[in-house]
Amino acid sequence: MDGPHDDNTLVLGIESSCDETAASVVRGGREVLSSIVASQHDLHRKFGGVVPEIASRAHIERIIPVLTESLDAAGVTQDRLSAIAVGHRPGLIGSLLVGVAAAKTLAWTLGVPLVGVDHIKAHLYAAALNEDPIEYPAIGLVVSGGHTSLYDVRSPLDMRLCGRTIDDAVGEAYDKVAAILELGFPGGPIVDKMAQTGEVTTRFPRTLLDPDSLDFSFSGVKTSVLYHVRGQPVGRGRDATFEREASALSAEEKANVCASFQEAVADVLTKKLGRVVEHLSRDGVSPRSLVIGGGVSANSLVRSRCVEFGAEHGLAVRLPAMKYCIDNAAMIAGLGHHQLLAGQTAGLDLNAVATTELN
Ligand code: KG4
Ligand code: ZN
Repeated sequence: MDGPHDDNTLVLGIESSCDETAASVVRGGREVLSSIVASQHDLHRKFGGVVPEIASRAHIERIIPVLTESLDAAGVTQDRLSAIAVGHRPGLIGSLLVGVAAAKTLAWTLGVPLVGVDHIKAHLYAAALNEDPIEYPAIGLVVSGGHTSLYDVRSPLDMRLCGRTIDDAVGEAYDKVAAILELGFPGGPIVDKMAQTGEVTTRFPRTLLDPDSLDFSFSGVKTSVLYHVRGQPVGRGRDATFEREASALSAEEKANVCASFQEAVADVLTKKLGRVVEHLSRDGVSPRSLVIGGGVSANSLVRSRCVEFGAEHGLAVRLPAMKYCIDNAAMIAGLGHHQLLAGQTAGLDLNAVATTELN
């Protein structure tokens, strides 16, 4: 077994915070030997969103086969593992508990350290997987289904929140726009694909909040898309009816809505990145990199805008490989390696926690 001071650790990562059951073996924090992700999208599709109770039950059914597959695919036997890392926060509590219970059981049985990893920190590490180490200080942008936040990142383990969404997360807004347009679930990838065939024909609002604010708000643009597609509401709240159905729009019109929405979102993200550069420079910090993570970092326009932004501001842009944008366990194992070397291990009393530690 590799010792915890060894840079060549073999860490088994487990991820079960939402609707992906995932396990991965990573060597030395960056070399991904296996990354198995069992998605539950088919189970949640008919409900138009993730149903927590269904998610936790599906994790229970899948966790053992996924763990076995990750070891087999890596060609690694359990006795060679240096540590077990588990995403224990933030997420759906019933889902997190499945991964945490599996991780504790394995760590205890094998007699290896247990590491509790924050899922948001792990998203900001995903870009280092199978790539060069990230150069710090870095600006961190997490864009996922549950989070939209900016960070001042000093190392894989050390970061400070600069701003976050005050309402919807950007991935959530994508999913809701897809629902408004009746495009399916999860909506982000579908809206992204449709946007590429459409044109920007409508200027949806870019909510920037106070002139100096680093926070985000995406509920306005989502509502604007709703009214644009379905007309003005008659009545209020859940009882509201609309002038027309989404089916009144042609495929081409829907694609234009997607392109226009995506443009508005990308504008807001880059505008806020500009602001964070100003804020950091006022504090005497010159970032070397821009690190992006979370499901929406798979978005084609977000990726290209971030690359442009990095070129303009002299920042190395670190985008995760597509398979490490969405939830995966390689990012958990990778970051777990750094925590292991830093002595940040957990006891068997490790808990699942619904919120991130980065508030
Ligand atoms: O990071 P993630 O897998 O789960 C959370 O931690 O939330 O992110 C999932 C989110 C979903 O809202 C999904 O629609 C969105 O990421 N997403 C995308 C794309 N791929 C996934 N949004 C926009 N464009 C994409 N290509
Ligand atoms: Zn995530």
